[in-house]
Amino acid sequence: MRVFPPYPSGEKPTITPNQPLVVVSVIARKGGVGKSTVTINLATEAIKNGLKAGVLDLDPQATAETWADEREKSANVDSSQPVVRGSKPSRFEMAIAEADHSGYDILFIDTPANSTHAATDIVKHSDYILIPTTPGSFDIEAIKQTMRLANEQEKPAAVVLNKCRHNAPIQTRNAAKKITKDHHFPIAGEVICNRKAFDDANEKGLGVQEYAPRSKAAEEIAGLYNWLMIDLGLEAEHHAVLSA
Ligand SMILES: Nc1ncnc2c1ncn2[C@@H]1O[C@H](COP(=O)(O)OP(=O)(O)OP(=O)(O)O)[C@@H](O)[C@H]1O
Ligand SMILES: [Mg+2]
Repeated sequence: MRVFPPYPSGEKPTITPNQPLVVVSVIARKGGVGKSTVTINLATEAIKNGLKAGVLDLDPQATAETWADEREKSANVDSSQPVVRGSKPSRFEMAIAEADHSGYDILFIDTPANSTHAATDIVKHSDYILIPTTPGSFDIEAIKQTMRLANEQEKPAAVVLNKCRHNAPIQTRNAAKKITKDHHFPIAGEVICNRKAFDDANEKGLGVQEYAPRSKAAEEIAGLYNWLMIDLGLEAEHHAVLSA
């Protein structure tokens, strides 16, 4: 079994000194809405910002693990980070404990679609739940169940609007309105658009900030990461805010 290796001591201090591991799970009932893409990019952004970040892949499709395998072949990136480990949903508690003992600051958990049973348990062991959705009405409808799980367990959660059309701001605004005003769900302070850089970076085992550092995609991920740090109470700076 592959484990989370300990971070060596004496590294530069992180922004969360001596704090317990923060677990952020990315959960959505719907397939293909961007769970793995959001997980991978937030983890690489966390590394870029000096955090000790890991990824736990609970999806039997092993998308994040496959991404990490590609990353090993990529030149010019530190492929040893983020550490990506796979686990069966039944054993994930052990992997979380391992990451905690090994000195990680933050662990992003990528989950399979339709993981209703497992999702209850994953939510229980998470500090924060991100729920990606596209602006499509069927996808937005499907976030209800995951949000209910988070609410039942009084876990902070937010919807991440992903794959928005950058040239269709009205569609994005209407989707945001539906989420916040009709469903009364919190929404992340940054919208992610449908951009080729995401797909290209995924294929190469990179985060968009590594693949195309000056791209809009990289800007959006930085915005989402900054917003998440603030919502987790870990950082005071805030850049991009969605004006829904
Ligand atoms: N913002 C985006 N722009 C362009 N392509 C995207 C974006 N987000 C995700 N994709 C692409 O959409 C596809 C599905 O994304 P991803 O695998 O992250 O979704 P998922 O929710 O994890 O899917 P699954 O339910 O199968 O695990 C992938 O090909 C990915 O590269
Ligand atoms: Mg996935």
